[in-house]
Amino acid sequence: MNTMERKQHWEKVFRTKDTSQVSWHQQEPSTSLRLIEELHLPKTANIIEVGSGDSLLGHYLIEKGYSKITLLDISEKALETIKYRLQERADKIAFCAADITQFTTNEKYDVWHDRAVFHFLTSRKDINNYLKNAALCLNKNAYLIIGTFSNKGPDMCSGLNIQRYSEDKLCHLVKDNFKKVKCFTENHTTPSGSVQNFLFCVFQRN
Ligand SMILES: C[S@@+](CC[C@H](N)C(=O)[O-])C[C@H]1O[C@@H](n2cnc3c(N)ncnc32)[C@H](O)[C@@H]1O
Repeated sequence: MNTMERKQHWEKVFRTKDTSQVSWHQQEPSTSLRLIEELHLPKTANIIEVGSGDSLLGHYLIEKGYSKITLLDISEKALETIKYRLQERADKIAFCAADITQFTTNEKYDVWHDRAVFHFLTSRKDINNYLKNAALCLNKNAYLIIGTFSNKGPDMCSGLNIQRYSEDKLCHLVKDNFKKVKCFTENHTTPSGSVQNFLFCVFQRN
């Protein structure tokens, strides 16, 4: 999929679906929040959430006092939904509508968080571009958190093919620039009641 096809797909999803019923929906992104809190970073840590969709992670990070948050998504509609939901608190967040495989910035981040986005990249070129961008915009010793479908997870999502990961496979992909802090799998129960197995890994930039 190229950037235009991806954007068309995701804009349509966020314009036409009830996103409280999509498979990836979470009332509270508790694993993501716990992983970020466990890093024990100052509240001024520069955090980017890539492929935020209209998730509540930004909302909870503000509640916890984090003050430098960027939400990036290919769908402008998803970001508009978050801005609308947050009202004046949206001023506390930087929003970026971009394809993460094409993203460039002069910012340096302390945390890169991704839940359910990386697995949509299925070509070697897109995967390499994503990991190159993550390595480029993270400070030394900064953290890369990726939550992706595990090798026991679904093989499609949102009507798109995805790439599933074992811990070894994900660690191998990032090994040039990151060392593993921890990895674990957990089940996510979708709003319709099915179970999806995720692999979460925390890596640290060399
Ligand atoms: C399955 S949803 C997950 C949303 C959110 N992370 C969550 O956990 O609720 C995937 C999200 O990634 C975004 N996305 C997909 N491909 C992307 C890309 N190449 N660059 C940026 N965002 C992308 C989609 O627009 C969508 O919001």
